[in-house]
Amino acid sequence: MMPGWPHRYKVSDIVPRVGAVLVLALAAGACDSASPTSLVPTSPTLPTPVRLPVVQASFSPVPLEAKPQAGGAGAVTYEISATVTLRETAGVSAHLDSIDVTFLSPTGFSSSQRFDVSVDLAELSTATVPLIQVFEAATPIDSGVWRLAGAGRSGDGEAFSLASAEVPVVVRPVSAPAPPPVVAPDVTIAGAGDIAVCGSPGTEATARLLDRMPGTVFTLGDNVYPVATSQNFQRCYEPSWGRHKSRTRPAPGNHDWEEADTGVSYFTYFGVNAGPPGLGYYSFDLGAWHIVSLNSSVPSGAGSAQLEWLRADLAANSSACTLAYWHLPLFSSGPNGGSGHVRDIWRLLYERGADVVMNGHDHNYERFAPQDPDGRATARGIRAFIAGTGGAPLYWRRSYTPNSEVYENGTWGVLKLTLKSLGYDWEFVPAAGSGFRDAGSGTCVY
Ligand SMILES: [Fe+2]
Repeated sequence: MMPGWPHRYKVSDIVPRVGAVLVLALAAGACDSASPTSLVPTSPTLPTPVRLPVVQASFSPVPLEAKPQAGGAGAVTYEISATVTLRETAGVSAHLDSIDVTFLSPTGFSSSQRFDVSVDLAELSTATVPLIQVFEAATPIDSGVWRLAGAGRSGDGEAFSLASAEVPVVVRPVSAPAPPPVVAPDVTIAGAGDIAVCGSPGTEATARLLDRMPGTVFTLGDNVYPVATSQNFQRCYEPSWGRHKSRTRPAPGNHDWEEADTGVSYFTYFGVNAGPPGLGYYSFDLGAWHIVSLNSSVPSGAGSAQLEWLRADLAANSSACTLAYWHLPLFSSGPNGGSGHVRDIWRLLYERGADVVMNGHDHNYERFAPQDPDGRATARGIRAFIAGTGGAPLYWRRSYTPNSEVYENGTWGVLKLTLKSLGYDWEFVPAAGSGFRDAGSGTCVY
């Protein structure tokens, strides 16, 4: 029996809906010849057929990619990340309750997972749903398909099933076993961005915090305001953070580059600690960690010299732990917001298992949960910090960005990381007089 079909036809309970209509037509045509009364409808009015939604699904990217990760006892863990676009095509409203995905390999291996969702689709509308399936296979797989099905209800409450859809999956080759992780003593790196404003009490206060911190100092760009000239470096940066110049590994910001002389004074001031003159990106190792300082004032997208340099740099390094920092954030709840043009950098770092990203530009402190470059929280993602708290006037909060865990815009201070062999501790150390503090720890993705 079809749900919702009226009980007015004596034969309709035992045939499909279309069959019932055919039987009724035959019965009407046979009335004049004493047809069996048992086939005559008890109501002269046919009900309006219920139109169920037709929801079609498409995927991106195509083909999907299964990314293997090292697992225990010879097993391999795979992760498939997909964006599913749902499209209602019947002109009725629909609500989707669940989506079932199944990965099938040619060898017969399969793994299924149900995602509970709550997706409302108005007539002829679309919706996108991000899905991440993680499964473990005892033997390596090299290809497969991803099959999707779903279930929901129409606007009239009728249950319906999402039409099955499939998409090919390619498997990234499993790389050679990772070398044993580097074991090294703990080291400290501390700093901030948006730093030197002549006469700002914040600049001197954060410099005093560094006075009692050992280790390396980083900067997250906008080292000196309003324009990074050699004169302003000498007047405003040198008397404060300049005390730590010999142990400082800087990054340039827009006030060092676009608003100044494309870094000429920046390179003159910081010298070899700023990497090769003219580039603004370089890397170094610290303890067990690989550290990358990048330049968000020059191109970093597909085909750019900086992105290709980063690709080669990360490929040549086997550290289990990687930290990257530059000026413009990809994610930010501050007034400047995120800068999408650094997403390719983020994606490459994510694919290579980087662990921490630090940025400035918004004059506040913000900490994010580990996430992927598309803003989806995942345990194997990158934890991002914004520490534009070096001394420039502080900003206000503009939005609540997904995965933002802590936001503070009333405190100057420095972010201190203790870099360990397989993890890290973080601590936001406030300028004297502030009670705000943020601390925690994380483990490296490798
Ligand atoms: Fe900036």
